[in-house]
Amino acid sequence: MTAKVLMVCLGNICRSPTAEGVLRAELAKRGLADRVEVDSAGTAAWHVGKNPDSRSIAHAKKRAVDISSCKARQVLSDDFHVFDYVLAMDNANLQALAQLQPAHSKATLASLLSFGSLPGYTEVPDPYYGDGAGFETVLNLIEVAVNGLIDHLVAHNLRLPQ
Ligand code: 4NP
Repeated sequence: MTAKVLMVCLGNICRSPTAEGVLRAELAKRGLADRVEVDSAGTAAWHVGKNPDSRSIAHAKKRAVDISSCKARQVLSDDFHVFDYVLAMDNANLQALAQLQPAHSKATLASLLSFGSLPGYTEVPDPYYGDGAGFETVLNLIEVAVNGLIDHLVAHNLRLPQ
């Protein structure tokens, strides 16, 4: 059984492509790359078609995560029929997604950090207008949450021995 996971932020050029790349990398480390399909999208359309922010690409690269070929797209209501998990980076995007989610769609809508976080954080802060430290915080939070997510997928969806 495969699971489909969609990571969602506002612009789909900083946080959600980072979450997509880190999830792919952590899945590969655990030998689960072919068991989970991963994508990302934004609730806003401003950056559609663009690669991630160069700062996000550079900070991810320092951790051996390559997100340079991601292309921004806007989330669609149909995504809730396609993906098993639609995971928001922050509460504003979680609310926007709740508005978009069709009745009776299959996706579980949740905050990414509900699967794991660092003390004091319930959201992945938007790094776009900040400095390099913000991009490191994004990666630190996403690494913890993604590992919690994979544990959850293994326990509840993939039904594989850990
Ligand atoms: P993201 O960050 O939602 O993590 O991709 C942002 C990217 C662009 C903008 C805001 C946040 N923007 O205002 O253009």
